[in-house]
Amino acid sequence: MSKPDLAVDFAGIPLLNPIVLLSGCIGFGEDLERLHGFDFSSVGALCLKGTTLTPRLGNPPPRVAETPAGMLNAIGLQNPGAKHVVEKILPRIGHWPTQLIANIAGSTVAEYEEVARVFDDSSVAGIEINISCPNVKEGGAAFGSDPIVAAQVVEAVRRGTTKPVITKLSPNVTDIRTVARAVLEAGTDGFSAINTLMGMAVDVAKGQAVLGNFQGGLSGPAIKPVALLQVWRVYEVAKPHGIPIMGQGGIASSDDALEFILAGSTAVGVGTALFKNPHLGGEIAQGIEEHIIKSGLDSVTALTGTLQAR
Ligand SMILES: Cc1cc2nc3c(=O)[nH]c(=O)nc-3n(C[C@H](O)[C@H](O)[C@H](O)COP(=O)(O)O)c2cc1C
Repeated sequence: MSKPDLAVDFAGIPLLNPIVLLSGCIGFGEDLERLHGFDFSSVGALCLKGTTLTPRLGNPPPRVAETPAGMLNAIGLQNPGAKHVVEKILPRIGHWPTQLIANIAGSTVAEYEEVARVFDDSSVAGIEINISCPNVKEGGAAFGSDPIVAAQVVEAVRRGTTKPVITKLSPNVTDIRTVARAVLEAGTDGFSAINTLMGMAVDVAKGQAVLGNFQGGLSGPAIKPVALLQVWRVYEVAKPHGIPIMGQGGIASSDDALEFILAGSTAVGVGTALFKNPHLGGEIAQGIEEHIIKSGLDSVTALTGTLQAR
């Protein structure tokens, strides 16, 4: 029997397989290169660490905390700035046999546009927009929590680049479909869903917040059921327009990834689970291939959005 086709087209970005290693969980990929036996061609793409216009030091420590079946993080977008990434880091990592996707952030709509312009003139295959950042002009409310402001960010990034634009949706909203519709009209080429859920942890003995920033983003297996539902909802908006979804949130096995594919994901992201096993992306791709063979199908795209009612 011939090998099934794992390749997917994600918003115009050709991926060798649907697995993407997620932003913030692999830095700029350089630690993976130092890892014995890591094969970049085992995954479809790497989403690079969230990047702003100028360098940021991030939040005060502690910045991570373990939770039941997951973790909280409040890294606060520590990064060396867009120019440094484009001029110093990309030339070192651009030869890897996988796609590189920039992940951009900003404090104002204008900053998002400027960061997009810097990456437009670079080797990245596409730009993922993190709309979960605080909007300084609106008292710190996340851009992604208001459909009008979220659309303004996507329009600004669209002006700044001709590369494929992927909008990373926040689950911290009343109805994710409202934001999905708004950014779709603003011209997004793809969706990432979902970013982390906001949470907090308390150290009772010390009477203190565990994180230096009080609040952080919850990720890992704890959020998987929430993420699946949100992907399924976004698929309702995306499907009629043929806009692909990169499903993510707690994926730690090929069965997890397949659940997201059935719910409507064209690509699937692995983040927190990489801290335990950085080779997991390739292992999940292999598991998906075995499932396709067992099902008598010939491609992974034959499974996308095929979820049935019971
Ligand atoms: C330590 C850490 C840092 C992260 N940094 C970013 C970031 O810079 N930009 C972004 O869009 N998402 C960031 N995320 C969110 C992940 O990319 C991913 O969307 C989320 O964690 C859900 O997937 P997971 O449960 O597989 O980790 C970060 C997550 C973690 C755990």
